[in-house]
Amino acid sequence: MAHLETILAQAGSRWDERTGAVSMPVYHSATFRHPALGQSTGFDYSRTANPTRQVLEETLAAADGAVRGFAFSSGLAAIDAVIRLFQPGDQILATEDLYGGTFRLFEKLFRPYGIETAYVDTADTAAVAAAFTPRTKALFLETPSNPLLNVADIRDLAGLARAHGALTIVDNTFMTPFWQRPLELGAEIVVYSGTKYLGGHDDVVAGAVTVGRADLAERIAFIQNAAGAILGPDDSWLLLRGLKTLPLRLERQEENARSLAEWLSRHPRVTKVFYPGLASHPGHETLRRQASGFGAMISFEVADPARIPQILSGVKAFLFAESLGGVESLITFPVAQTHADIAPEIRARLGISDRLLRISVGIEDVRDLEQDLANVL
Ligand SMILES: Cc1ncc(COP(=O)(O)O)c(C=O)c1O
Repeated sequence: MAHLETILAQAGSRWDERTGAVSMPVYHSATFRHPALGQSTGFDYSRTANPTRQVLEETLAAADGAVRGFAFSSGLAAIDAVIRLFQPGDQILATEDLYGGTFRLFEKLFRPYGIETAYVDTADTAAVAAAFTPRTKALFLETPSNPLLNVADIRDLAGLARAHGALTIVDNTFMTPFWQRPLELGAEIVVYSGTKYLGGHDDVVAGAVTVGRADLAERIAFIQNAAGAILGPDDSWLLLRGLKTLPLRLERQEENARSLAEWLSRHPRVTKVFYPGLASHPGHETLRRQASGFGAMISFEVADPARIPQILSGVKAFLFAESLGGVESLITFPVAQTHADIAPEIRARLGISDRLLRISVGIEDVRDLEQDLANVL
């Protein structure tokens, strides 16, 4: 089998036999002509299958070593589709410092419907082991987590979940298949916000699901078609285009992130740095075992929270904007942005404080990024 870099670089490049198009064509067709009654080209209606989306989905599946991949209109639409596998009365165990939007989906949409989520520190395997109940049907891991970069041991936890008859779902947004392949570690389902590293250019909102079992693939395919939150052909093409350079972007982003994390650790106005690539991070060893890289997300606490407004308005190389994973470096204030939907007392317990900033490190010259932070700090 070809290596990941080859699969990604040539995604869609051999699809169009008729013209030999090297770039996958964008199939702007909602519907497809049937050759005759009872016959199909394999494409009937674009909610069910569209050639551009299909090539993207096959690429995502190949990258993750999955049975099948699915592209959705956003990361949250992808997670929503996966949670529809469960029934009222079922319980999900989830990482406690989840992305705020996932927390909102679980609490505001699925809880009233009867699917209840309990939150646990998934960096603590013993705490997870103690949290299973007979109603637990899934373990939902976000690892490394957002924004504190806590690391869950996917192999150990997937084993635990399986012993309890529960599925393991991993939000692999921060790692991508380039650094971490949860299906190979025992998870059954992987979800992505494709908006982030997979797309990589902050120009598309997208989501993805990959699954390691044929029965689950069939059910997700049914949900994708029945609920209909598909990714359109233009956005599928943007994601395919982004995926071609994923390894190159991520290598540079990680190199920049390591350098900035070390620099921040030495800065007198920074009291704490959360980056799993630092040997001092509690998840460092686990991530080293289960992934081939440490990512390019860093959170840090500043000594004086009163300076945060000036930091956010003063940055010049960083952009003060939500989201992450693109070639442009971004800075966010989780308490007020990505995690605003989490109750203040829960945020306080988790350590998402009013002195915490999160940066997504891009591909710029790291000297400019460092100088920028030096200026505002
Ligand atoms: C870890 C993680 N999962 C899921 C999502 C949701 O993805 P989207 O914004 O594409 O719906 C995000 C978005 O920030 C995220 O950071």
